[in-house]
Amino acid sequence: MTPTPDPPSAVGAFSPTLPHFVGVLGGGRMGAGIAHAFLLAGCEVLVVERDLDAAAAARGRVESAVAKSVALGLAASVESHTARLEVSTDYSHFAPCELVVEAVPEIWDLKVASLKRVEAHLADRAVLASNSSSLSMTGLAAELGRPQNFIGLHFFNPVPASTLIEVVIAQQTVPELGDAARGWVAALGKTAVVVKDAPGFASSRLGVAIALEAMRMVEEGVASAEDIDNAMVLGYKHPTGPLRTTDIVGLDVRLGIAEYLAETLGDRFAPPQILRDKVARGELGRKSGQGFFHWA
Ligand SMILES: NC(=O)c1ccc[n+]([C@@H]2O[C@H](COP(=O)([O-])OP(=O)(O)OC[C@H]3O[C@@H](n4cnc5c(N)ncnc54)[C@H](O)[C@@H]3O)[C@@H](O)[C@H]2O)c1
Repeated sequence: MTPTPDPPSAVGAFSPTLPHFVGVLGGGRMGAGIAHAFLLAGCEVLVVERDLDAAAAARGRVESAVAKSVALGLAASVESHTARLEVSTDYSHFAPCELVVEAVPEIWDLKVASLKRVEAHLADRAVLASNSSSLSMTGLAAELGRPQNFIGLHFFNPVPASTLIEVVIAQQTVPELGDAARGWVAALGKTAVVVKDAPGFASSRLGVAIALEAMRMVEEGVASAEDIDNAMVLGYKHPTGPLRTTDIVGLDVRLGIAEYLAETLGDRFAPPQILRDKVARGELGRKSGQGFFHWA
């Protein structure tokens, strides 16, 4: 990989060439990773946070991610990248951005209010994207003045280590924007999976489906959690088994997603009793020390 790429040229937002000015709303775990990805690709990046303390923390997260890339030989120097980074609390600074990726917490009202507020500062041709992992892109687009310019860009955690981005096409998204987004994903050195807006997109729907079946198998005594995971790791070359992945994600998080998928897609996603019981007992996975496995 070239340490310092040439900055991309300023182009129309619906071009597959990366936009020159990219904004990120919310510089938390995901937003900082997204900002880092665009900085490494040569863009000018603006991160907007809710207050000065959060802005300072966001800057720290992005700078430390860049420093890690420098240590790995993926970037020439911290300064050559952070010189293209602005962190602010002022939404009006989004005005020159051709693309803004929203990464505020997964709360519907907060997403809607934040997206509307960003859109008010953008040029008509600019693209607004959401990194939401579950909310309806079509529903969010319907709240906006330019729904055709809205798309889902679902980055994975941790962003620097993950090569996947789910491109989620809302009913209102114009097809050219989907094509452009594929180009942006490639320019970030990642692979796009393009999905029609549907509950759980592709990744959560499939990931949760296999995890719920694995839980039902534990419940029925078909095999131990260890053996079920080994079947997928050794037999199907999954890097991590479905139950260990559930422990890492958090059993409470998986329960929330399963309930949402059961509501929207039907009973096949109904959470097994073992999942409800474990969450009720506070066995939330890695973060609590116990889930389907014990975590030291
Ligand atoms: N964490 C994951 O594994 C993961 C993976 C994929 C997608 N996502 C999605 O990414 C989004 C962000 O998740 P996260 O894990 O980065 O959350 P986070 O809590 O780490 O970060 C959210 C950031 O948004 C900021 N924020 C809150 N309100 C704001 C406002 N009004 N204006 C500007 N900034 C504001 C917060 O200060 C915080 O820094 C969510 O939609 C989540 O579902 C998360």
